[in-house]
Amino acid sequence: MASDTLTVTDNRTGKTYTMPIEDGTVRAMDFRKIRTSDEDFGLMTYDPAFMNTASCRSSITYIDGDRGILEYRGYPIEVLAEHCTYLEVAYLLLFGELPTAPQLKDWVNEITHHTMLHETTRKFMEGYRYDAHPMPMLVSAVAALSTVYPNAIKVHDPASRLRQIKRLIAKMPTMAAMTYRHSVGFPYVYPDNDLSYTENFMNMLWRMVEPKYAANPVLARALDILFILHADHEQNCSTNAMRSVGSSLADPYLSVAAAISALSGPLHGGANEQVLKMLDEIGSKENVPAYIKKVKDGHEKLMGFGHRVYKNFDPRAKIIKWTADQVFEVTGRNPKIDIALELERIALEDEYFISRKLYPNVDFYSGIIYQAMGFQPSMFTALFAIPRTAGWLAQWQELIQDAEQKIARPRQIYTGQRQRKFVPMEERQHAAAVK
Ligand code: ACO
Repeated sequence: MASDTLTVTDNRTGKTYTMPIEDGTVRAMDFRKIRTSDEDFGLMTYDPAFMNTASCRSSITYIDGDRGILEYRGYPIEVLAEHCTYLEVAYLLLFGELPTAPQLKDWVNEITHHTMLHETTRKFMEGYRYDAHPMPMLVSAVAALSTVYPNAIKVHDPASRLRQIKRLIAKMPTMAAMTYRHSVGFPYVYPDNDLSYTENFMNMLWRMVEPKYAANPVLARALDILFILHADHEQNCSTNAMRSVGSSLADPYLSVAAAISALSGPLHGGANEQVLKMLDEIGSKENVPAYIKKVKDGHEKLMGFGHRVYKNFDPRAKIIKWTADQVFEVTGRNPKIDIALELERIALEDEYFISRKLYPNVDFYSGIIYQAMGFQPSMFTALFAIPRTAGWLAQWQELIQDAEQKIARPRQIYTGQRQRKFVPMEERQHAAAVK
């Protein structure tokens, strides 16, 4: 018998089954052959929250959570953060190779020339309440792009796919900036094609009456590095949403809108905003031990700590700490960094966090940098959504081209009642109110 197989015995029937092990994985469908009778549906695997289920084959992002390794298309994140621009990395994620100089020039040019929004989208964005949170604004604005580009539904047409990919990467900063300008009541700033991707974003956020916006190069580069770090992270909650919605062959605008929705949650991308709220609540270094106690007693979560995959350290958090120092040289030190460092120091020495392998994740320090750069906390998760769009689209493109993929449709274990006798209205008597 081949050694790379799994043999299981069903003790209900005494039958033995052998199934192949490929890439450290057995196929859940192989378990379906395990039945007690011809009428039996077959054995299923039960895995709430996908704790141990691979949903796809992917060649985009590699993570070794135990060793704190993150690679895009085989390149270590540290190397990409040091040597590349965000758009270069977006190209790598989408096409599998780093661009040559002419390819990068064309790519940047293409993205730059898709940054404008259709005026209907701009007007649509004017309709939000003055204090609307940027994330739901972004979700609905991205979904609204689907009305502007109905041809995006041709998801099996490679040329159409590429057009939508360029539009989405180009327009995300424009829309994110509009959500901010809307919230402060400033007029929208149109894109400036002379500027780089991040400089242009800063221009659309912060230009006031000056004829031309000049971004601080250190801050623009820091933002670019942060964008690189956030560009992809394999099968996380929002990417899973992108793939799940995309598997129905919905267009990429609607699928990205779903992914942004998933990202907004406080357990995912929304954590960066929560970290700042937590640091505000703690207030000063002296209050850190008391807060840690509250966390250990189960009254609070240490936001920006813990990760489903990283169980040693998050390599992005290390680069972010380095980037923070560069930013603080320009902006001055954000006093919250001292509270954060103290939280990290105490947590990393504490048995509660050590035994649960809880380390700072990407969101722990990113918000402190963003705040020092002048972003409001409510914008933080939108700052995550902009660069992650390249990752979502790379994953979506891979899904669409994967012959093994079908519409995503999990199974369930039904726990409700069956075949109940209908009770006419006048005979219904409920003991407890329906919750
Ligand atoms: N603070 C305190 N305790 C925590 C934390 C935390 N941040 N994270 C996990 N734990 C504890 C849990 O209570 C649990 O303890 P128990 O075994 O005594 O019940 C144990 O550690 C394991 O945690 P799980 O929730 O089972 O881990 P899971 O993999 O499901 O969750 C998650 C990962 C969601 C990131 C979690 O660590 C968390 O909520 N962190 C805070 C929010 C956050 O920072 N999210 C951003 C993640 S990075 C990103 O999405 C971009």
